[in-house]
Amino acid sequence: MPTRTVTYDVTPEGVAVLTLTHPPVNALHPEVLQALFRALRQAHADANVKAIVLVGAKDRFSAGFDVSEFAKAQPPDTTINQHFCELLESGPKPSVAAVSGMALGGGLEVAMACNARIATPGAQLGLPELTLGILPGFGGTQRLPRLVGLQKGVQMILTSKPIKSQEGLKAGLVDAVVEPGKLLQTAKQWALDIAAGLRHRPFSLFRTNRLEPLGEASMILDFATAQAEKRAAHLVHPLLCLDAIRTGVQSGGLAGLKAENAAFSKAQTLDQHKALVHIFFAQRSTKRVKGITDAGLKPRSMKKIAVLGGGLMGSGIATASILAGIDVLLKEINQKFLDAGVGRVKANLASRVKKGSMTQQAADSALQRLKGTLDYNDFKSVDLVIEAAVENVKLKQQIFADLEKACSPHTILSTNTSTIDISVVGAKTSCPDRIIGAHFFSPAHIMPLLEIVRTDKTSKQVVLDTLEYGSKIKKTPVVVGNCTGFAVNRVFFPYTQAACMLLDLGLDPYTIDKAIALAFGMPMGPFRLSDLVGADIGMHVGKNFIESFPERVYTPHIILALNEQKRLGEKTGSGFYKFDAKRKASPDAELKPLLEASRKASGLAGIKPPVSSPQDIIEFIFFPVVNEGCRVIAEGIVDKPADLDVATVLAMGFPAYRGGLIKWADLIGPKHVAGRLNAWAKHFEGAKLAGFFKPCDYLAKVAQEGGSLGAGVGPKSSL
Ligand code: 3HC
Repeated sequence: MPTRTVTYDVTPEGVAVLTLTHPPVNALHPEVLQALFRALRQAHADANVKAIVLVGAKDRFSAGFDVSEFAKAQPPDTTINQHFCELLESGPKPSVAAVSGMALGGGLEVAMACNARIATPGAQLGLPELTLGILPGFGGTQRLPRLVGLQKGVQMILTSKPIKSQEGLKAGLVDAVVEPGKLLQTAKQWALDIAAGLRHRPFSLFRTNRLEPLGEASMILDFATAQAEKRAAHLVHPLLCLDAIRTGVQSGGLAGLKAENAAFSKAQTLDQHKALVHIFFAQRSTKRVKGITDAGLKPRSMKKIAVLGGGLMGSGIATASILAGIDVLLKEINQKFLDAGVGRVKANLASRVKKGSMTQQAADSALQRLKGTLDYNDFKSVDLVIEAAVENVKLKQQIFADLEKACSPHTILSTNTSTIDISVVGAKTSCPDRIIGAHFFSPAHIMPLLEIVRTDKTSKQVVLDTLEYGSKIKKTPVVVGNCTGFAVNRVFFPYTQAACMLLDLGLDPYTIDKAIALAFGMPMGPFRLSDLVGADIGMHVGKNFIESFPERVYTPHIILALNEQKRLGEKTGSGFYKFDAKRKASPDAELKPLLEASRKASGLAGIKPPVSSPQDIIEFIFFPVVNEGCRVIAEGIVDKPADLDVATVLAMGFPAYRGGLIKWADLIGPKHVAGRLNAWAKHFEGAKLAGFFKPCDYLAKVAQEGGSLGAGVGPKSSL
């Protein structure tokens, strides 16, 4: 059975039903679109046909254009689809879309070209193209504002957030919402009624009655443009999109279509689009792990888990788990701590209710799944334990020894440590096959990444089950190997070090932070981040790295000085910045003597900083990070380079539109990265810092031989 088809059936009443099939989400692959176009022409030529209905197989209308086509060398030509949409909208016979599941991107655009849309309750309708670095390219920039009004249309496009069919009905996007069993019948009847003149036949491209008057429309677009420039200063495609909408508003739908087409072609040439498409597939490929998900094993469902420790991390993990329908035992060492832990979970839920992302009733029922405990009595019945106690090796070893006795022989024993070797944590047990790391990022109920750390003794089944748990709690799980800092913290270790080196070379911390946050697009610069995390934590983590990789570390004296002065960051009111009562950061003149002392102690006095522009600063700080990323790839710490891209985006806020760490390096060119690192290695040879910069073998090889650091990673190629 071919997987990309359109079936053509004509009912006795004269309705041609065009069913598109392309599992799993009926993506509009060019073959599907061509088949649809053929079927549409056939329907218009068929004397037995009075009207046309479009429907997606398996209760999904369509998730839009096939994104894998964008990953190909030759960008897809979408102009043919505009002709298809025009025929759908204005051909001799009326058309109706029967929408269930989802109509996203090109899927919604095809539905909007139909003369009416009937949808099932809960169906999702939206134009998420901006998340892929493009814009709606099948007429969506013109038809959506004409159906729902400019204000709503622009908002839907800029936020990329889909709406449900009930909201679509109110907004004018959907004409009727009916139960799934009645969908096709209702759509057919609407199509026949329009054909018979019993219902008006609307042509959405030419509708202007929903558009705001010109003056108001200009104001809406001006405001949206200012917002887009502010929110995503580096992104060009939202502005291209708004320009196309503006052309349509000022000069009519047909002119708008032309502008959309030109803008779409332009957006496709930008690196941002390539980077975002890469992240789209990379994010979905983390769930496929060589030797684990292809080993023929079945994941066991994690129905009941235990979380040890009700601090910030533990309570966040418990929150994420109960929200996913998992029963949680939250264990603490005394009643006071337990009450505080349960209180944190309640506060997490209350904040969701306040934001409107869940109802009070749903929060109450989630809370029913949480049970506090002070002992191990019920631990025989849990499928998975996540230990989130303080970072103390001896304590963790004792906990794991106790857990082995308290739990069933099948329970997975995991630790949320961010710094301690997983095998060391489980050293006092006799079940290394059941020991694994489940490294969450704070706040654990919000941050989307889960680093799953396997040792060489962890069983495949345990890795698979933990992956399943990660997906169940709606995290993106990335399986990594056991080493200091695992993948994320390890590759970001040189980030702070390189930034501190620049400080000691005489640069100002606020200039550096500006370059990294404003010019590059990180959520904040390295010094602001240090203040957020705390200089004490930074020093503690730093020690581990210095012990593990002595040949390539730089001692950041400034971090030691901040610790001595108890300038630990936000929590003490000052660090690199000073903080007001509302925790607003501002530069602090009192930092100056500490900086001077650090410069003196650094041994870098007299060395000219090899950077001048913001781009130099970015490269000086990030290229050592790329280098460490290459080591992590070469050592097999990540299953595939794309996993590192996803991890850096989701955990560190590396801009997705740069593609993640390794994709970014590939877009810049490994040769350029290695070239600069080599130059800096030479520059700092006298200061005995060549090791910090020297390209690792993997980077050096790719740079020399050509090719890509993330080679072999793309849609479906990750297994
Ligand atoms: N093209 C190709 N493959 C797609 C796809 C698309 N538009 N949408 C989803 N898929 C694939 C995924 O890669 C995944 O494949 P895998 O199982 O092999 O990894 C599979 O479908 C299932 O996807 P998810 O794992 O994401 O499943 P979910 O159920 O969590 O989500 C979804 C389903 C809401 C449809 C989500 O996949 C999604 O948001 N898809 C993208 C929608 C989108 O961005 N559409 C716009 C496309 S661009 C466009 O239309 C341009 C036009 O204007 C010209």
